[in-house]
Amino acid sequence: MRPTASRLIDTRVIFCGDNLDQLRKLPPACIDLVYIDPPFNSNRNYEVFWGETKEKRSFEDRHESTKAYIDYMRPRCLELHRVLKKTGSFYYHCDWHASHYVKVMLDQIFGENNFVNEVVWKRQSAHNDAKQGSKHLGRVHDSVFLYSGGRDYKFKHLYGAYDEEYIEKAYRHIESGTGRRYRLGDLTAPGGGAPSKGNPHYEFLGVTRYWRYSEENMKELHRQGRIIQTKPGTVPAYKRYLDEGKGVPLGTVWDDINPIHSGDSERLGYPTQKPLKLLERILEISSEENDVVLDAFCGCGTALVAAQKLKRQWIGIDISPTACRVMALRLKKDCGLKEDEKLQQLGRGFIVRDLPKSEVELRKYPPFEFENWAVVALGGTKNARQVGDMGIDGRIYPVTAMPGKRGATVGELDFMDEWYPIQVKQKDKVGRPDVDAFEAVMIREERKLGYFVGFEFTRDALYEIDRFQRKEGREIRALTVREILDEELHKS
Ligand SMILES: C[S@@+](CC[C@H](N)C(=O)[O-])C[C@H]1O[C@@H](n2cnc3c(N)ncnc32)[C@H](O)[C@@H]1O
Repeated sequence: MRPTASRLIDTRVIFCGDNLDQLRKLPPACIDLVYIDPPFNSNRNYEVFWGETKEKRSFEDRHESTKAYIDYMRPRCLELHRVLKKTGSFYYHCDWHASHYVKVMLDQIFGENNFVNEVVWKRQSAHNDAKQGSKHLGRVHDSVFLYSGGRDYKFKHLYGAYDEEYIEKAYRHIESGTGRRYRLGDLTAPGGGAPSKGNPHYEFLGVTRYWRYSEENMKELHRQGRIIQTKPGTVPAYKRYLDEGKGVPLGTVWDDINPIHSGDSERLGYPTQKPLKLLERILEISSEENDVVLDAFCGCGTALVAAQKLKRQWIGIDISPTACRVMALRLKKDCGLKEDEKLQQLGRGFIVRDLPKSEVELRKYPPFEFENWAVVALGGTKNARQVGDMGIDGRIYPVTAMPGKRGATVGELDFMDEWYPIQVKQKDKVGRPDVDAFEAVMIREERKLGYFVGFEFTRDALYEIDRFQRKEGREIRALTVREILDEELHKS
């Protein structure tokens, strides 16, 4: 049987596109858990504000930009509220830049009464932020706001281990024979054994009191060895064993989850990637197996991987085709899922929907996204060096040259001499000067084969490519976007 929780929607789908449009396609009340971690530069104003010169900006500028950010987020949060079930939960991850404005906006959308918690995630140590000469304390935490869809939302308490100091203090008794640590619990009625509503009054082990439990229950507990009287005449107490305790209930300050560091195995190089442990914790608190988790700003897909690992259903949305490809790769590698429509229908695969399919769409792409699209479509690897790539946008490593190493990055493949450069130009017509420049790169790098991607090539450019091959014995394959799209269509 198909392991999908929802008859309302398709799950294990990554939608590529603006979440405002994508969310409008979803029916109401179909999601159990929403997590979002929106970027702070979702629009131009905001980008200016949070850019390099932010500290120098006046209060008016800040106010304007914050307003622009909130105006951008409000319709999206309204949609997220619409798709959330009454039993569901909504998490909004942000930081000091706009957290207070975000809270006010969310109170208006979800209702103040549905505000559950603000989680403080300590993501770095103070010295990263409070540099010498700065006049502020280290900004070391993110805020994660939790709202519920209604009164009967799902919630599970999590517990952490007690620390040693607490154990020494609170559980200071050790049971002879078993060596079990325990603490003494009060058996007298609430209020220290004073007359109180409905509590029984009787004599037990020579002490007459209002007790917490009936005489019968007390006798049974005593028989089980759960009651201790340290000296005759003293008030008996209940033995609470350390090994029976659940641990410390998780609070709102999370300082036990490290951010992603450069050496971490889960690091993908996506600048805003959140740790898997953080998302797993959120999912454990607010969802159950087979529930539907939605991340509408899903970046490199941390929430989706967490959902897959914890046997939840999931939907991801991201506006960046690069991000969609990165997370597709991650789901394949980390979760062993196949990108396959038929398997997705059977509950064993996933699909990416709405990736750009036309030249018109690709012309409108930001240059960086266009470059990425072309390099990935050719089966290449993006050049890791953003600056100083010296005319190379990506490299193709032929299959025979692959060392078969999982997770190898461009840097790790540098030692391999068998690679072909890729040059990408998002212009209507690639001309002779563009080809000349690429030829220089091929000679400098001593490459026999290279790829050039553009929308079209001038006749001069094609003539030069031909001349270059005949004279230098080096081949440049001129590929148009149309050809690549046709090829991709063939593959699918
Ligand atoms: C901060 S990152 C999320 C990182 C993610 N939590 C992770 O751990 O990988 C924000 C993502 O939101 C995406 N994004 C920005 N505006 C969007 C929009 N309007 N619709 C969908 N995605 C958007 C960006 O492309 C980016 O990948």
